[in-house]
Parts: sequence; C-alpha cells; structure tokens
Amino acid sequence: MMKITSFQAYHVAYQKSIESPDEFWEEMAQYFSWRQPWQEVLSGDFASARSEWFRGAKLNITDNAIDRHALAQPHQMALIWEPNDPQTPTRSFTYLQLQQEVMKVAEMLRTLGVKKGDRVCIYMGMVPELTFAVLACARIGAIHSVIFGGFSAKSIADRLEDAGAQFIITMDAAQRGNKMIPLKSVVDEALSNGYPIQKVLVLDYLHTPCNHAHHDVDWKDLYQQVEAMNAYATKGQEMDAEDPLFILYTSGSTGKPKGVVHSTAGYMVWTAFTFLNVFQYQPGEVHFCTADVGWVTGHSYLIYGPLLNGATSVMFEGVPNYPDAGRFWEIVAKHKVNLFYTAPTAIRSLMSAGDEWLEGKDLSSLRVLGSVGEPINQEAWQWYHDRVGKGNCPIVDTFWQTETGGIMISNLAGVTPQKPVFATLPLPGVLPVLLDDQGMEITENNVTGNLCFAQPWPSMIRTTWGDHERCLLNYFTTYPGYYFTGDGAYRDEEGMYRLAGRVDDVLNVSGHRIGTAEVENAINHAPQVIESAVVGYPHDIKGQGIFAFVICDHQHEMDIPSIQTKIVKTVVEQIGPIAKPDRLVIVSGLPKTRSGKIMRRILRKIAEGEFESIGDTTTLLDPSVVEEIIRIVTANKVAH
Ligand code: WTA
Repeated sequence: MMKITSFQAYHVAYQKSIESPDEFWEEMAQYFSWRQPWQEVLSGDFASARSEWFRGAKLNITDNAIDRHALAQPHQMALIWEPNDPQTPTRSFTYLQLQQEVMKVAEMLRTLGVKKGDRVCIYMGMVPELTFAVLACARIGAIHSVIFGGFSAKSIADRLEDAGAQFIITMDAAQRGNKMIPLKSVVDEALSNGYPIQKVLVLDYLHTPCNHAHHDVDWKDLYQQVEAMNAYATKGQEMDAEDPLFILYTSGSTGKPKGVVHSTAGYMVWTAFTFLNVFQYQPGEVHFCTADVGWVTGHSYLIYGPLLNGATSVMFEGVPNYPDAGRFWEIVAKHKVNLFYTAPTAIRSLMSAGDEWLEGKDLSSLRVLGSVGEPINQEAWQWYHDRVGKGNCPIVDTFWQTETGGIMISNLAGVTPQKPVFATLPLPGVLPVLLDDQGMEITENNVTGNLCFAQPWPSMIRTTWGDHERCLLNYFTTYPGYYFTGDGAYRDEEGMYRLAGRVDDVLNVSGHRIGTAEVENAINHAPQVIESAVVGYPHDIKGQGIFAFVICDHQHEMDIPSIQTKIVKTVVEQIGPIAKPDRLVIVSGLPKTRSGKIMRRILRKIAEGEFESIGDTTTLLDPSVVEEIIRIVTANKVAH
C-alpha cells in the first residue's frame, strides 16, 4: 500500500486523487489480492448515491485481512485481547491462529444454515469471539450487523426487522467494569413478539443462567463439532466488489436509526489506506483502538484497517476507569502499544481523574495518538499531547462518520502539519467544500459553513438498507450534487478544517450519535407524557448532554421525581442507557411558533443557561412559556 511520508508527497498524492481518481485508486488497489480484477474503477452517479468502485472485481476481504498475512507472517500477532479484569489472563492470536478461529466460526455459521447475503446480527461484549464472528460473516459472505451491547431489546427488535436478519450471535452476558449486561435475556425479550428468527448462536461466556429456546445453539458445542470434523480449511466466499459487507445502524435527525450499508472492495481499500497513512503504521507496531466494535470506529480501526495492514490490534473488554483511571495506561505499558486511538470523552474523563494515574506507567512505546468521534477541546488536546504523549507523539484528530466508512479529514501523523483542535486537511480522494445555508459554495478561507463532500470516495455509504430514498434524502438532497455530513466546519487561512459540531438535530453524547427525535419518541412512550422536546447542551465530560423538556398529563397532581424516573426508565427500555436524559424538566408548555413548530433555538439557549440571549420571543404563540421554563430550569438544577 502506498505510504505517504512527506508533506510534499501528500500534495502530489492529493492532487492526483482529485484530478484522476480512477488512476489513483487503481494504483492503491494493486496492493490487495483479488480473485478477479475490476472492469472499471469508478462508475455510477454520485448525486444519486449510486457510485460503484472496482465494478466487476471479485474478492473476499478476509483473503486480505487474514489469509495473506497467515501465509506471509503466520506468527505475527494479529489480536491481543485484554480482559475486563486485569487479573484474568490475556488471550492473543497470531494471524495463523486468527485464521483457524475465523474458519471454524465460518463453518459453524454455515452449519447453522447461514448463506451469502444473509443478515446476521451480532450482539456481544468485547471478546475475541466477537471479532471472529464479524470476520466469519465476511468470510462466508453474510452481511454482519453489529449492535452495541448498550442497546435495548426494543432497539434490537427494530434492527432485526429492518435488516430482515434471520440469525443472531450473542452471549449469555457481557461485563464492563463492575457491570454485568445480560445480553441473552435482552435478545430473548427482543424476540418475544414472535419474530421469525432461525438460529441464535449463544456463547456461554460468564456461565450465567439463561433460558433456552428451540432456536438457541450453544457456541461451544458447535465449535467442538466443527473442530472434530476438521473440514473447515476453506477459502472465503467469492464476493462482488459491490456486495454489501455490513450494515451498521446509526442515528439521524429524523425517525428511527437507519442501516448504513458498506460494500466490500471500496471499504477494504479505504480502511487499509487510511489506517496506514493516518497512523503512519510501521510493520510490527501494536495498535490500540479503545472503541467498541458496536460502533463504526471498532469496525474500521479495531478490526479491518489494522488487520488489512497485518498489524497487531488490541481489543479491550472493559472501560477506562476500571479498576481505576490508570487502566488504559496499564494496557499501553503491558502490551507496548505504539498507536493509541480514543475519543475526547475518554480523554476528558481521565484528565479529570488527575495526573497521578499516569505516574509510574511506562508510556514510552507510544508513537502516535488519535482522537475520534467528536470535537476535541483545547484543554483535552493539550493534556493528551503533554501528559500522555510527553510532547513526543503527534496527535491525529480524525474526522469521519459511520457513513464515510473511514477517516476523511485528518493530519497524517508526523507527516502533514498538526494544529490543535483542527482535523486539518482532507485525505487523498476527499474533496471537502463548505456551503452556506442557500447551498452556495464558500470559496474563501477563514469561514464557517456546512461541510459537504463533492466527489465520491471508495468507502462512501452505498445505501440505507431497504430504503434508498432515505439515503438520498438524508445525505444527497439537502445540497444537490454533494454529500452533506450534517456537520458545520471552519476553514482557516491555510485551508485546514476545524469541526464545529452537528448543524442538524443529531446529538453527540460521549462520542455516541443520538437523534433528538429518537429520544423524544422514546420519552413520548412514557405514561402521561403528552409532548417532549430534546436538545443538547455542553457537558464537561460527555461533550454534549441530553436536556429534555416534557409536558405531562395531570402533572400538577403528580410527584415530579416519580414521573421523571418513569420517563428515564422508558428511554432506557426504548433505546438503551446511552440515551438517558442528563436533565429532564416537566413544563406546562413548549415555545412554539403560531404554526406549531417548536423553537429549538430557544430551548437550546435555556439548556445552555444563556437566559439573557434568548432573543425575540414575540413570534411565539405564548411567550410566557419561556419564563415558566426558565423558572423551572433554575429551580431544578439537579441532574438525573
Ligand atoms: C462527529 C464516528 C469533530 C461528527 C467516527 C460526525 C467529529 C459524527 C470527529 C459521526 C472529529 C467524528 N472532530 N467531530 N475528529 N469525528 N465527529 O457516525 O459530528 O458515530 O458527524 O462516526 O461524529 O459519528 P459516527
């Protein structure tokens, strides 16, 4: 794979990727093993989200992520698993061992009846078997759809149905810090409405008691059967370049989460290229991405990107503050981590725990630090740079999205300039533009605008599962001819980008995307709730917190704390604990225009405590509600 190692080489590569994308990506594609070459590098139509990359080519991504390395460097470590409890032994797998495990799980899935194109939902904790399951799906051509372990039964049921999945892979329970999450019983509940599932493969991990349904199959039993057959040494299924590799559900500004679809070849080329270049990976280095595989970062930079490059990837089961706030640094020291990739939320929370947790930890192996998922603030950037990196490690601030498949805007570690709190420059193949609200391109610098991409890139979203219109509507129609990120960005005098947060109704809470409409919809399921409005507000650790304003029936006769508790419980049931409102107030009215539209701008100001700058309220149907809400918010400072 082409590694860009100077600023000048970056300029040359960038220029070429924009002027002759076909030639540029054709060259990058030479580094992979293909079963059959492509007929055309880029075809289709960007404006209607019908771009195709490497059309006609045949491949299996695991040929490149596993088999190639299992042959060339069988004893190189592929996966190091660090358990939740530091006393539990580490498990590690060389490329040869990873290949064996993935082949076995692939065979297990085949035995269950999983075929090419079938959707398989994976709802597991961060254990090696999760990685095997993902790669096993890819190997047999099944479309994996990983669901983060923090989502509720209702969320799983919605996703199963939307994806038309017939198989689930889960485990009895997962552990994160001192919490235990009973995954299997959540799956049972998701299926309790009679969803026609074919098989549920269950890994008995913590040996907690579970119900057994007729469709349940025990992972270990099947594993032993397959192992005894010893007939699993098969190649991966031959896939078309554009065959879907996975579906990952993510929140938008309207409706239920949508299934973002990524295809095989473009995603492979992009994740491999960006991992190598952004982190400037050197052969033999150990990469630790702290993200959960339930999110896109775990897909692209814990599993696919590093493995495609033959790197060693660290997978951590637990949480940053268990057993204490030094855990990440212990893992870095223990496994001699060179590349460390985490989210600003984690950085802020570890920073607030104090520097003493860094003391005595040998961080000298660290070479590059990465940040992802939300804007990083200056203070957190500085602490990361000075205290974790000891001033020696470049920080890559990587901007991208579930829909982009991989990193879009970032400096290349130590190669292109870094600028604190700036994602900086686009990667080769990425053509960012800033548009004003009328859709006019802003060409000058020192400006803020709506961030769009003007050219297709190999790992762009292909569709939203089962509903291409929705894909068009969400990303390609706001500004015709452009892919719209939903983010605002500032461009400085050198053309460097700083992300300024979402400009739509999507929140970013602890680096997790949540739609305000989704939370409102969940709240509205609570008994007595008549209407609700949810906005984000700045939160010291989480980046953004969720602020809910709720109108209830008979609220005057009710005990407010008990209504609040019921509402929070409903949100947890509908979505999961990640969507719990941080603050929730019961009000008697919401600021609405005469046409009935909720003025979120006003609620945002109130949530931020900016009561003085609310602005004009005379266009409201009933301006007095604003005073009432302010009164309630000031009286009710306690967080929930
Ligand atoms: C935000 C996560 C600022 C942004 C990979 C985007 C960022 C959303 C950054 C996507 C960054 C991601 N700086 N903001 N470096 N990276 N974001 O789909 O608002 O979970 O639209 O993908 O996170 O979140 P998603």
